Amino acid sequence: MITLHATEATLAEGKVPLKVVWVRKGELTPQGQVLDAHLDGFLRRAMAEAGFKGEAGESLLLASSEGNFLLFGLDEDIRATGGRLAQMLSKLAFPEALVEALEAYPLAEGLLLGAYRFDRYKEKGEDKVLALHLSRARPEELERARKVAEGVFWARDLVNEPPNVLTPEALAEAALSLRALGLTVEVLDEEAIRALGMGAFLAVAQGSQNPPRFIHLRYAPEGARERLDLVGKGLTFDSGGYSLKPTESMATMKGDMAGGAAVLGALKGAALLGLPLEIRGYIAACENMVSGRAYRLGDVLKTFAGKTVEVMNTDAEGRLTLADALAYAERQGAKRILELSTLTGSAVVALGEEVAALFATEETWQKRVEEAARKAGEKVWPLPLEKAYREKLKSPVADMRNVGDRYGGAITAALFLAEFVTVPLVHLDIAGPAFAKKAHALGPEGGTGFGVRTVLEVAQGLTEVA
Ligand code: BES
Ligand code: ZN
Ligand code: ZN
Repeated sequence: MITLHATEATLAEGKVPLKVVWVRKGELTPQGQVLDAHLDGFLRRAMAEAGFKGEAGESLLLASSEGNFLLFGLDEDIRATGGRLAQMLSKLAFPEALVEALEAYPLAEGLLLGAYRFDRYKEKGEDKVLALHLSRARPEELERARKVAEGVFWARDLVNEPPNVLTPEALAEAALSLRALGLTVEVLDEEAIRALGMGAFLAVAQGSQNPPRFIHLRYAPEGARERLDLVGKGLTFDSGGYSLKPTESMATMKGDMAGGAAVLGALKGAALLGLPLEIRGYIAACENMVSGRAYRLGDVLKTFAGKTVEVMNTDAEGRLTLADALAYAERQGAKRILELSTLTGSAVVALGEEVAALFATEETWQKRVEEAARKAGEKVWPLPLEKAYREKLKSPVADMRNVGDRYGGAITAALFLAEFVTVPLVHLDIAGPAFAKKAHALGPEGGTGFGVRTVLEVAQGLTEVA
């Protein structure tokens, strides 16, 4: 773990066991140059001897009678630089280090995120703590980064928890823990969900021994003038149901609640930051399983909104749970909805593993979310809600079917969702970026917490115009 501390001391002045010195295109930063002058040019001589140019993420560790120095190559992406540095430092044995802050906020966020570990289920967990002193950083910036990172870490933890532990009930319990931060959390059990008429959500849930939960969270600080409604997909495991997934595709399906985890992480972050707007979150949590009670192909379901749906693929379950959650959010008075879901493999085919697909029913709302994602350093790209493809969702027996054909799968999924809301909707298909198959600059393989930072930027942005 890394803890961050603001300090007035510069590299030349600080007294710590290790100093990190930035290098960009073979050059030291002005602070680094002052330090090097104090060291009679030791750093530049060592760089020349080692042929060290400071390519992004490259490092050179130097020990001398004057202390220890880690020369580190700067990337254009300062968050990624922070993440890589955190991973480098966690391999070294120093308990403390001094770092020039540069752009303190993104650097701090990268340092914190890069040091994340999930070792709860390992006999030998990592318990090392590294104190990083950021030269000339504003304490408020570090405080903000800590709170945002806490939201991201929680989302990552929830995704990384195994599905035998993180059942729908356990996810609801996790949501209930936000009461400690002043949120109102309501959890509906199966009976209450049935009484509301959420027939699509219930159909997906019915094959499992673990009962579903509908989670409704409210963060409502006094004097709030804006409102944001968030919906997250909450499949704690997606086997595909009778349209069963093959092993390789099923292996990471504990992460099919990453949208819901992002909603929870963002609400936690918002509460810690004390953002002055109302935020609501809705998660229809269940498992998609196979059993004698499971839903079938051909079943016709009655949604909360009243529309009927013919099931033509039980693996297109997310949109069924989301249809009911979205309509419920609107019924609760949502003015605009941001929805996040690991919805389709098709979005991953289109944009790869790092970029989320963005669909919007209204342009102002779309621009807000795009701008927020850019600021947050999370990659999203728009795809069209092409009306011509709506006919792919026609059913001979019901109002709609739950899948289109082989082509444009992310689009038909988004079109399906859009049928259940009239207020501006942005749908983020995060099937790619929610779960990393290998370690990256900002963390290890596994849950990434994708969406938390974007949602917090969106929320922040809404308070700035209000
Ligand atoms: N949870 C999956 C989507 C997914 C795929 C998430 C890969 C993360 C990584 C979703 O429920 C699903 O199975 N979608 C189907 C839809 C199809 C049946 C129309 C898919 O993408 O194959
Ligand atoms: Zn599925
Ligand atoms: Zn799914």
